[in-house]
Amino acid sequence: MAFEKTDVKTMEMKPFEKIGSEWMLITGEKDGKVNTMTASWGGVGVLWGKNVATVYIRPQRYTKEFVDENDTFTISFFDGNHMKELGYLGKTSGRQVPDKIDQSGLHVEMAGGHASFEEASQVLVCKKLYSDTIKPENFYNNEEDTKWYPEKDYHVMYIAEIVEAYQK
Ligand SMILES: Cc1cc2nc3c(=O)[nH]c(=O)nc-3n(C[C@H](O)[C@H](O)[C@H](O)COP(=O)(O)O)c2cc1C
Repeated sequence: MAFEKTDVKTMEMKPFEKIGSEWMLITGEKDGKVNTMTASWGGVGVLWGKNVATVYIRPQRYTKEFVDENDTFTISFFDGNHMKELGYLGKTSGRQVPDKIDQSGLHVEMAGGHASFEEASQVLVCKKLYSDTIKPENFYNNEEDTKWYPEKDYHVMYIAEIVEAYQK
């Protein structure tokens, strides 16, 4: 079944479940190659009069190089299916395993010319608007910093406009 373009405003979206429990893949393209990583932190909302998605990527992720290289990246959702594959893609780096997508068992499929996955049920094509690194001095208390950043590898936050949406 091919992806169908849809209006993001009409998409069924339970963001807390979809992102936090069912996870998503952040996918970028660079030099004709595709890399992807699992993410369970992020958000969707409205900013600067635009529908936006926000993702948080640690500096050591190989996918970050792909997201930085292009104006756009995709976010793919799987409705709680393929958790095993997402688990694999969330612990294997494309830097060490260049064919990690093949190894995962998922299949790249283009959605409106942007790399996503045959197995995905919803895809957001995201155009970068803004990025910044989480700053330890901006926390209101030390709890999150101590818990999540013992290596001081602060996430880079990307705010991106959702310019296209697809579903199956
Ligand atoms: C459930 C789950 C959620 C994750 N969420 C994030 C996230 O939001 N941000 C992040 O930087 N890494 C996250 N990760 C870790 C990356 O997916 C993981 O390091 C991955 O192997 C990176 O692959 P890459 O080096 O090929 O980009 C998550 C991993 C799992 C299993």
